[in-house]
Amino acid sequence: MSIDAALIIGSGTMGRGIAQVSAAAGLTTYLHDVSAEQVTKALAEIERSLGKLVEKGKLPAEKSQKAKSNLKTVSDLGGVDWPRVGIAIEAIFEDFSAKTALYQDVQPRLNDGAILASNTSSISITKLAAATDRPSKFIGMHFFNPVPLMSLVEVIRGLQTDDQTVEAVAALARQMGKNPLQCNDMPGFVSNRVLMPMINEAVYALMEGVAEAETIDEIMKQGCNFPMGPLTLADFIGVDVCLNIMEVLHRDLGDPKFRPCPLLRKMVDAGRLGRKSGWGFHAY
Ligand code: 3HC
Repeated sequence: MSIDAALIIGSGTMGRGIAQVSAAAGLTTYLHDVSAEQVTKALAEIERSLGKLVEKGKLPAEKSQKAKSNLKTVSDLGGVDWPRVGIAIEAIFEDFSAKTALYQDVQPRLNDGAILASNTSSISITKLAAATDRPSKFIGMHFFNPVPLMSLVEVIRGLQTDDQTVEAVAALARQMGKNPLQCNDMPGFVSNRVLMPMINEAVYALMEGVAEAETIDEIMKQGCNFPMGPLTLADFIGVDVCLNIMEVLHRDLGDPKFRPCPLLRKMVDAGRLGRKSGWGFHAY
């Protein structure tokens, strides 16, 4: 099944990154958000990001122009050319009820054969799928931040996802210039199951006075060849997002090794959420 038009729902950092790579891959791409102001802001961000890629020689100028012309922003789902849409990728905030309420709104408009995907970083794909009218055509498509630069898409198969959906989504990810890697639906999938406990452990090291935040980051950068230290990465991801994922791992896997570090919780209580609040483990 070839897909030539995609709907991306949610124009936050992830949604707009996905819309950018989708439009650059030649798909007619609808980017939806409930707020017109938000989609206008997202479009400006995408144009800025495309401009930077052209400047750095990572994207030919004609491809950037083509991407812009492939992209259509909508704040009303009525503005989408539904019969053309082969996939809807949901990238709204991490709330089960909000996501499933959105699916109720979207699925009657979608073609019977269209795929519904979620960019969730921690909510069960199987559970989300069960709340839709198409569990066999529901799948996890987990992109990484910053989407235009990161090569991986983690493709998460729910218990009922069919083979054709997995193949179609893997082909689409490749068309977007990404490398799809498949895993089964378990809390945190692979990426966050491994990454978040490492970040959590770095926060324990900080809390226990093993070293200062800068030193912890430099040790992991220089000693393990990480592009950035775990605390800097937590600030990029959002300290609240890290806490939320640790809570999911702890609750759903039931293993005490996943308990969130008390300092992580304290940071969130204090509103020190990382880059987005101007202050996390580091100041911005
Ligand atoms: N999130 C958001 N933006 C990031 C980022 C991140 N994790 N990492 C880097 N960036 C931004 C930088 O701020 C910079 O933005 P600017 O151009 O506006 O200043 C831009 O990306 C380019 O960064 P660099 O100058 O470092 O450029 P390079 O080309 O040398 O490297 C990179 C780019 C490969 C993205 C490198 O910075 C990197 O590897 N960063 C870590 C990325 C990472 O680990 N992402 C995974 C996060 S986990 C996730 O997304 C899953 C979710 O479920 C939590």
